[in-house]
Amino acid sequence: MDKIHIQGGIPLKGVIQIAGAKNATLPLMAACLLTEDPLILSNVPKLADIHSLIHLLKDLGAEATLTEESTSSNSLPQGQTLNLSAKNITNSKASYDLVRKMRASILVLGPLLARMGEATVSLPGGCAIGTRPVDIHIKGLQHLGAEIFLEHGYIHAKAPQGLKGKDFTFPMVTVTGTENLLMAACLAKGTTRLINVAREPEISDLVNCLISMGAHIEGIGTDTLIIEGQKSLKGTHHHVVSDRIELGTYAIAAAITRGELDLLGGKKSLIPSFLPKLEEIGVSIEEIPNGLRVSGKNASLRGIDITTDPFPGFPTDLQAQITALLCIAEGSSLITETIFENRFMHVPELMRMGAQISTQGKSVMIRGVQNLVGAEVMATDLRASFSLVLAGLVAQGETVLNRVYHLDRGYEYVEAKLRACGAQIERIHT
Ligand code: EPZ
Repeated sequence: MDKIHIQGGIPLKGVIQIAGAKNATLPLMAACLLTEDPLILSNVPKLADIHSLIHLLKDLGAEATLTEESTSSNSLPQGQTLNLSAKNITNSKASYDLVRKMRASILVLGPLLARMGEATVSLPGGCAIGTRPVDIHIKGLQHLGAEIFLEHGYIHAKAPQGLKGKDFTFPMVTVTGTENLLMAACLAKGTTRLINVAREPEISDLVNCLISMGAHIEGIGTDTLIIEGQKSLKGTHHHVVSDRIELGTYAIAAAITRGELDLLGGKKSLIPSFLPKLEEIGVSIEEIPNGLRVSGKNASLRGIDITTDPFPGFPTDLQAQITALLCIAEGSSLITETIFENRFMHVPELMRMGAQISTQGKSVMIRGVQNLVGAEVMATDLRASFSLVLAGLVAQGETVLNRVYHLDRGYEYVEAKLRACGAQIERIHT
């Protein structure tokens, strides 16, 4: 398995192109199942998770071809174009060995059921950060008329007469739950009102794509979506929205190394609660033509309290990364994780680098230290892995990160993007 070696202590300086959002691309890919026409997605990031879902879609009978955008010689490819066509769905079963590799595979359930009148999808099971049930996905589809039962670890769903539009109130905010029901409702008979939906930018991106495919959807960006079901949808070409989690992650890289980065494709509106928190810590953020300039130069970083919340609150997917930053901020910080029950696995690894952190149930108390010290550490999940990269970028000496496959699930060209800004980072293939 690959390892990443980092020599810490170098302030980053340079330009990073923010990629298309992983968590927008995955539901957009599942949307190809809603139409017989080709769906073309551009600005697709180069990630392992995208390949996992391509594998699953092909297993269902879809065609998929991925091409890299051409670029000038000395820069990285600016995204990929993914041509999808689910003209002939030959199989409506998403098997365990494919779904277990990537939980977001559950996103094929709604579209498959709506298009084919049946779907058999493996329960995704939990992951490192929590049990992550899909009970609300199931309840919502049953509300739209689907007959669903669970057997041998699979969700067996049928809607032989098609789905029927109806009001459904989400008992709690769920991102992929919203996306599954939104896509299913696009082909249901009649009107569906989805109440208490997730409002992440990736949802709005999916709504925009579905509307360009001929869906009738109102309420974009609000907590209620009203969908007028259509007999069928057509194909379209959609440009994937920028990845707000990658944006926030590299903003923290600028801050923690006391450097300055221009993050192209970044917009304040993508992370409305995150950036003010970064400024409260002492980081400066400036809007520049087609991006954001984030600087930690001469910043005296101060500890603050943070609680994660569904959008537009502080993103849980940036909690591990800001924890690394607050380890070297002056004073104490209390971080409370309200979305997932086990999202502090980066904490023991950060403590091995000299961080002072105590865990208290859903919260961690951080006492800032002067510096961290490089160590051999282990990635446990996607966002925790970058938290350790960030710590390694500022730690004294060398940090070696194991289980790098976690990182590759959600971040493209990490070493190249950081090396281009002065980082001493390399991947060792073992
Ligand atoms: C999406 O996961 C993201 N993944 C996650 O990003 C993100 O952390 C999460 O939303 C929250 O923002 C994708 O979009 C592919 P949820 P999702 O359903 O949809 C509970 C990353 O790092 N819940 O919003 O699976 C659930 O247990 C990943 O890129 C139920 O109880 O998250 C959790 O506590 C990690 N029953 C809470 O809701 C359900 O049926 C929010 O989960 C569904 C969810």
